[in-house]
Amino acid sequence: MKDFEIFKDIEELDNESKYLVHKAKEAANLAYAPYSKFQVGAAVILEDGTLVTGSNQENASYPLCVCAERVVLYTAATQHPNKKIMKLAVVAHRKNHKDLSPATSCGACRQVMSEFEERQNKTFEVIMLKSKNEWIKCPTAESLLPYVFKRSNLHE
Ligand code: THU
Repeated sequence: MKDFEIFKDIEELDNESKYLVHKAKEAANLAYAPYSKFQVGAAVILEDGTLVTGSNQENASYPLCVCAERVVLYTAATQHPNKKIMKLAVVAHRKNHKDLSPATSCGACRQVMSEFEERQNKTFEVIMLKSKNEWIKCPTAESLLPYVFKRSNLHE
């Protein structure tokens, strides 16, 4: 099993990851986050190079807010149902702030990412900013959620 990799500078990431981070940043600017003012963007690259982006979508009924990661994954699944996800990047910034804020995916999104790996029968890497100057590349989504609840649990 590959380890988590830490990069001190975004420039140290591979070109595809840098590109995804750049696209996730653009998506963060399109977030609808008037309540938290925490704008999150996510980008995935599919097996044929197709790019899909998403941003967090909030609601006055707060529990209905949806994270950028789930928006991008469900969009990819809807628009490109037969193409596997190869990598996901997520970034965030506070409204009207230029600098990125550390944002590692919430547990609910890790659960959803993990089932995407299962349904496409292929793992994918996840890139996120853990702290200032600390990019992490997670080898798989499941590595972010050991002992994840799986669909097989429903039938065992
Ligand atoms: N959020 C995401 O979009 N992704 C994360 O990984 C963490 C949190 C969103 C949800 C909510 O709209 C705002 O950030 C504050 O929690």
